[in-house]
Amino acid sequence: MWEYSEKVQEYFYNPKNAGVMENASGIGDVGAISCGDALRLMIKVDPATDTITDARFQTFGCGSAIASSSALTELIIGKTIAEALTLTNQDIADFLGGLPPEKMHCSVMGYEALRAAVANYRGEAWEDDHEEGALVCKCFGVDEGMIERAVRMNGLTTLEQVTHFTKAGGSCATCIEGIEEVLVKTNAAMVAEGLLDAAEAFDPDQAARPVRRPKAGKSPLAIKLEPVSKPKLTNLQRIRLIEEAIEGLRPFLRQDGGDCELIDVEGDRVMVKLSGACVGCQMASITVNGVQERLIEKLGQPLRVIPV
Ligand code: FES
Repeated sequence: MWEYSEKVQEYFYNPKNAGVMENASGIGDVGAISCGDALRLMIKVDPATDTITDARFQTFGCGSAIASSSALTELIIGKTIAEALTLTNQDIADFLGGLPPEKMHCSVMGYEALRAAVANYRGEAWEDDHEEGALVCKCFGVDEGMIERAVRMNGLTTLEQVTHFTKAGGSCATCIEGIEEVLVKTNAAMVAEGLLDAAEAFDPDQAARPVRRPKAGKSPLAIKLEPVSKPKLTNLQRIRLIEEAIEGLRPFLRQDGGDCELIDVEGDRVMVKLSGACVGCQMASITVNGVQERLIEKLGQPLRVIPV
């Protein structure tokens, strides 16, 4: 289970600047719902001063994605474009009092969305609009540029870190060789520029040690990321835990005039009914995703929350 700071929880339950912006000056889209995380950042810019006067976001992702997106909007409103572009993903994480290492990709998504929105505002081509084939990790839509930026900005030197910061390699792991290539190349450049000690640079031969090297066709990350086995729960125990988790979330939803009720559990499918302000709300998918994440953390098992 991940430990979230109080500020992450606050920004998850009460996200600021969520929603659609009419007549945005620039829009940045990163990720894809099919990849599990997507973020749209909309900015309003005063052309006379090049200042970001307003920002809104819509995201499909976990609680830390919501919190990171919300934090990003808070950080950039009132800044000039030039000032905003000096922000790093670490600034977003710091603003939130830190993020679990496995969730740092949410802050990177925010950083990338800002760059995309600014490119859109300036009428520039967004370099992430890559052609098919330019991707390193097809599961999560991550290209070389995004990996390189994350490696440089955060001083990454291992495959596992790259997965935490970009999600690349976190699923089928067929992209591991591609990630290794980018990591080797980027670390080498950082060493040459005096930004990284040569002894710390990623070494694929070191990664060939038993913990990281694929066995019988499996990738090191696939092995590493296998879920830890937990005591098996009876159906009754599972349903009780699901009920408890949902009951714990309802007061927060009610604060905003919404509600969520458990309807049924079939295997790994949890059917819920959203009501009140949650019905038709553009944030409904976020609510469902948040409920799902809470349940997965509580049960330690994969499951899907389905609104019915
Ligand atoms: S292609 Fe990267 S995890 Fe599947």
